[in-house]
Amino acid sequence: MTPFEPALRRDEGPTLDVGDEPRLVELLRDEIRTNGPITFARFMERALYEPGLGYYTGDAAGPGRSGDFLTAPETHPVFGWALARQLDELWHLLGEPVPFVVREHGAGSGPLAVAILDGLARDRSALRDAIRYQAVEVDERRVKAFRARVSAVGHPDALDRGPAPRGVVGAILANEVLDALPVHRVVARGGTLRELYVDWSGERFVEHEGEPSTARLGARLRDEDIGLPDGQRAEISLALDDWVARVAAELDRGLLLLIDYGYPARELYGPRHAAGTLLAYVRHRAHHDLLQNVGRQDLTAHVDLTAVERAAERAGLQRLGVTTQAEFLVGLGIGELLSAIQADPSTSIESYLGLRSSVVRLVDPAATGRFAVMAFGRGLPVRARLRGFGFRLVDGAPID
Ligand SMILES: C[S@@+](CC[C@H](N)C(=O)[O-])C[C@H]1O[C@@H](n2cnc3c(N)ncnc32)[C@H](O)[C@@H]1O
Repeated sequence: MTPFEPALRRDEGPTLDVGDEPRLVELLRDEIRTNGPITFARFMERALYEPGLGYYTGDAAGPGRSGDFLTAPETHPVFGWALARQLDELWHLLGEPVPFVVREHGAGSGPLAVAILDGLARDRSALRDAIRYQAVEVDERRVKAFRARVSAVGHPDALDRGPAPRGVVGAILANEVLDALPVHRVVARGGTLRELYVDWSGERFVEHEGEPSTARLGARLRDEDIGLPDGQRAEISLALDDWVARVAAELDRGLLLLIDYGYPARELYGPRHAAGTLLAYVRHRAHHDLLQNVGRQDLTAHVDLTAVERAAERAGLQRLGVTTQAEFLVGLGIGELLSAIQADPSTSIESYLGLRSSVVRLVDPAATGRFAVMAFGRGLPVRARLRGFGFRLVDGAPID
């Protein structure tokens, strides 16, 4: 999801009410009747992932399908073409293993996979014939759709090269996935932390304030040296730690590359985000009615980059770099890609202008250029420097 996608308007006009998924509302209501108010994390988990009914697992929803938002790879394949260059460099650093696995979590219908494979072909990279691309998704139907799309555009061989690997020698990617992991909502009251639960009023879901459901919430903030001022609301994703630990364990040798909208903890929990960062997205609109359109709207919160870094470190990964999407793409030579396409006699002026405006959007710091790119490694040569983190180099060392 792309908070600054130009097609997307925040809170303009009347709230978009697309209705709830009725069976999901029933399930949530029953759970509340039986157990009392549920945490927002539990509500979010079921609203997004309830088998067959959630936003990402139901029949009617999902990015691209109902056009709720566009992700960077859906904006233009140039995003994937640039990423292909990073993967090519990594392949050489690892000694050109075959197969070289790219495991993409949250691969959706495959826009990034297709662009990466096309990008390798455009660059005549030998990695194109060594790559084994795998999609990890929340629903089997999504994986099927992914495989159908990647095969249809000429890359079926990249899906099944070699036996199915358990551990990854290669790269694990996740673009715009972490912001969908469930979050708890908290608020500071007179020096103590309270949690914001979801209750049922008899007619609709409502907010309900109570004691924190787990001491891990306060502990997370204390670990990050965060003291919330009175009245400040915030989100805490405990699911993030488990996700990073699980995914890091899949990596035998290579790179974990995470791209998402987020901030280091001191900024995420700073005065600019006093109301928290949770938003609902439906049909190119961002709004704050988190408890409506249950199962039919996306729910997302900015990612706590400090928590991600600490979880990766605990999992034994080496921090390779953290930068913005703008610097990452520039480091990978997105400008050269643009010039080469301009110089190509087969490029029409329309396609060139489309490409150029997409590149501007992808690197614009006021738009998606502000996304965070985080790279962690295992088993890479000591002092390996990735090209995507080379935008700011002082005496050969990146500035973090
Ligand atoms: C915003 S879309 C991004 C899709 C794609 N990465 C892209 O950039 O176009 C989020 C995708 O992540 C998937 N997803 C959400 N949570 C996930 C999880 N916990 N594990 C794997 N996939 C997940 C969704 O089904 C959806 O396809």
